[in-house]
Amino acid sequence: MVKGLFEFLTLCVLVFTGRPTHASPLELNPPRVVVRYGDSVSVNCRTSATDHGGMGWEATFGGTGLEQDVNIVTWTVDNLTDWTIEPKCYINLIDGEQPVKVLPVILYKTPDSVSISVLRHSGPMVEGTEYQLQCDIQNIAPLRNLVVKWYKGNEPLDNVTYSNVSKTPVDVSPTLMIIPSRDDDGAQYRCRAELDLGPEGPQPPLVMTSEPLDFTVFYPPTFSRPEAETLDIRVGEEMTLNCTAAGRPTPLYIWQSSHVQDALFTPPSKLPGTYTCTASNLIGKISKTFTVNPKPKGSSRTFYAIIGSVLALALALIVIAYFVYKQRADPNSTI
Ligand SMILES: *[C@@H]1O[C@H](CO)[C@@H](O)[C@H](O)[C@H]1NC(C)=O
Ligand SMILES: *[C@@H]1O[C@H](CO)[C@@H](O)[C@H](O)[C@H]1NC(C)=O
Ligand SMILES: *[C@@H]1O[C@H](CO)[C@@H](O)[C@H](O)[C@H]1NC(C)=O
Ligand SMILES: *[C@@H]1O[C@H](CO)[C@@H](O)[C@H](O)[C@H]1NC(C)=O
Repeated sequence: MVKGLFEFLTLCVLVFTGRPTHASPLELNPPRVVVRYGDSVSVNCRTSATDHGGMGWEATFGGTGLEQDVNIVTWTVDNLTDWTIEPKCYINLIDGEQPVKVLPVILYKTPDSVSISVLRHSGPMVEGTEYQLQCDIQNIAPLRNLVVKWYKGNEPLDNVTYSNVSKTPVDVSPTLMIIPSRDDDGAQYRCRAELDLGPEGPQPPLVMTSEPLDFTVFYPPTFSRPEAETLDIRVGEEMTLNCTAAGRPTPLYIWQSSHVQDALFTPPSKLPGTYTCTASNLIGKISKTFTVNPKPKGSSRTFYAIIGSVLALALALIVIAYFVYKQRADPNSTI
């Protein structure tokens, strides 16, 4: 019991004699700065201490001497070009303490250039093949605030960020793996370097976009209806077999026919038979078969006309037969 009380008191003494964590007697305004390389900057350091032994700024550029009898000292640089500058405001307090406040500085530089290319490749791409796009961003700082965004047209594809803490300008070349499809033919890809410098930085964030990279994507011929077709044709009737295939480069067509073996070539659409069309380009080829069946000359319309006439004739005979029969059964009646 006594031991416990003793421990409690010891704890209280420790708590009350422990160095109180005073709020810093120094206040920076603005508390942090974002500066474009070569721009001017000015920050005030104000103290709440009424009496002190001098205060000032310590920095590779814009440092001040120890100033007495002031409560504000200003750090000013006309042309800030020191990438690693770390200005500190300090004060000599009466009790011999020297609190220091470091000014966080982000010195930034927009890239000299942003360009997009396909790695180890030039010319048209082939559908389904893997390629690497590369975005070359030159001379940018700081890397930590860079967001690289990839776009296909206006559609965002991917974002790249860096955790590198280096403050000096660097070149970076992020890559994006793509497997183009035929939909990418004619599409434009871009990459964009955004410097997102936070609320103290320029608004909206600084953006530099590459020139577009125009895609040409080759793909094999394909039919919208790939299945074989069967068509009926009356001899002499015109008919067009459509073998149009989508493909890039534009497909070339070859027709083969069961009837086109002799020297005299009859246009395929005029004769019954089987016709095979092959569409081909650099990337591939595809075939489709059309079967054209002959149809008897007396077509269904004539058939129904004959049936119709026969029925009408039969009906007329029945009516006549009925009246003839009635008259015979009742000779007095008049028709
Ligand atoms: C700023 O400093 C850089 C490097 O010291 C120099 O090249 C540039 O000309 C200066 N700009 C101005 C406006 O003084
Ligand atoms: C990229 O970042 C933006 C915000 O800056 C976000 O809207 C978008 O969804 C992100 N895109 C991807 C693919 O992560
Ligand atoms: C990241 O930083 C390290 C050193 O801090 C450096 O060696 C490396 O090259 C940097 N990466 C890029 C992409 O600049
Ligand atoms: C042939 O078919 C294609 C698509 O399969 C179509 O775009 C085109 O209009 C057709 N041509 C004719 C003459 O019907």
